[in-house]
Amino acid sequence: MRTDERSEAAKNMAAIGSSGHYDGKLAPYDITVSQAHVAMLLKQEILPADAAAELQRALEELKQRILAGADLLDPDAEDVHTAIEQYLETQIGADAGWLGTARARNDLAVTALRLWIRDQVISLRTKILALTEAMLAQAEKHAATIMPGFSHLQIAQPMTFGHVCLAYAETFLRDAERISFVLTLQDECPMGSAALAGTGFPIDRVTVARSLGFRQPTANSLESVGDRGFALDFLSAGASVALNLSRFSAEIVFWSSQLVGLITLPDELVSASSAMPHKRNPDAAELIRGKSGRVLGNLHALQTVVKGLPLSYFRDLQEDKEPLFDTAETLALSLDAAVTLATLMQPNTDAMRSATDIDFVTSGDLADWLTRERGVPFREAHHLVTELVRLSEKRKCPLSALPLEARRDIDPRLALAEWPDISIETSVDSRDSQGGTSPKRVAEAAAQLRSRLAEFIEFETDFSDQEIIKQEGEVKR
Ligand code: ARG
Repeated sequence: MRTDERSEAAKNMAAIGSSGHYDGKLAPYDITVSQAHVAMLLKQEILPADAAAELQRALEELKQRILAGADLLDPDAEDVHTAIEQYLETQIGADAGWLGTARARNDLAVTALRLWIRDQVISLRTKILALTEAMLAQAEKHAATIMPGFSHLQIAQPMTFGHVCLAYAETFLRDAERISFVLTLQDECPMGSAALAGTGFPIDRVTVARSLGFRQPTANSLESVGDRGFALDFLSAGASVALNLSRFSAEIVFWSSQLVGLITLPDELVSASSAMPHKRNPDAAELIRGKSGRVLGNLHALQTVVKGLPLSYFRDLQEDKEPLFDTAETLALSLDAAVTLATLMQPNTDAMRSATDIDFVTSGDLADWLTRERGVPFREAHHLVTELVRLSEKRKCPLSALPLEARRDIDPRLALAEWPDISIETSVDSRDSQGGTSPKRVAEAAAQLRSRLAEFIEFETDFSDQEIIKQEGEVKR
């Protein structure tokens, strides 16, 4: 090969192979793992004490400078892990070479990534809980605010706005639980797996795992270096969050349309059209909905990367980073915007009440009444009310105004002296089964959700504090 061909080849390899220009956010995690590794190597008398001390000093200094915003690592290095080793060599010379003892980039990269995911989960979960709280607060305030309940986007039954808000609060709390589960499943430390087969050095994997806040080391070195199940779990839980945010946004877009007018959004969250100044486009909601596409795509991207790979590490797996980074970043943005939407949306309570007041909106309640109070089997009652609705339409009168004779003509069982006029309020109050829309039930469900939320926050915060304290304590020794 000619020299110019060689240099072209090297350039192209570097261009496709280097992740150093985008994986720098893993640097503090890489360093934390290295600190735990060096501490263990010293304890096991694998490293000379002076080299271990030098390494710890240089690692800590680098970490502090990076956290303070310094740009010290070579973006052209093959990856952040290589860049850190190269940097350490410029600082402490040959002693830096001890760091690679009894480990490989394979176990290092995957351990650092688990630590990064842990931080993302904790921070995204806080935002999901804030969104849950915002919807819960709306529900508490509007437990008795009447609005139309939709199915198929048809006005189906009277409902309370509080009930609808609680529906989303439930969904979001479950997303917080789902994303927490990612931590439970990835709570094992791959360090010590080395390249793929473990190492001949007398390492102590339990010590490293515990000092990094993991429950225990992974069981199989070969599985550990090629497994990206933990990354897929994060992307999958993230996809669920994005999916639910998208549905919530679609609801907001619908509610805020002029034709619907059930809510008003604050000026800051809408944009005016330059050509049509009267418009209030719900851009924030639309963007959350739009951005969910990439979060769903990121899951699919990594699934596709992994699906053809036999055991152990392949360079394909370097492609795990960008989907992960993008999902974390997009969800953080989207959740912040969603919290603002949830907090600041203003239900137009009068408009909600009058939108509910369509003809025959309580016809289902009448069928229920016939079954409950007059013992008509429900299918028949439903059929009879359909006939009554037809007749009312023809006579242009409400169901309650149909005279006894007209009802008798439909069915003798309808010749009742007492004939109810079921109001929207009566309808809503009557739906008081557990989980139902009646104001009483909504208030009760909101109180229950509030205590579940508090319990969850207390449990999860305890858990993550412990991990962080454990990690800091061990690393400092
Ligand atoms: N940057 C790589 C990754 O993230 C590092 C893993 C080790 N590389 C290797 N050639 N064994 O996947």
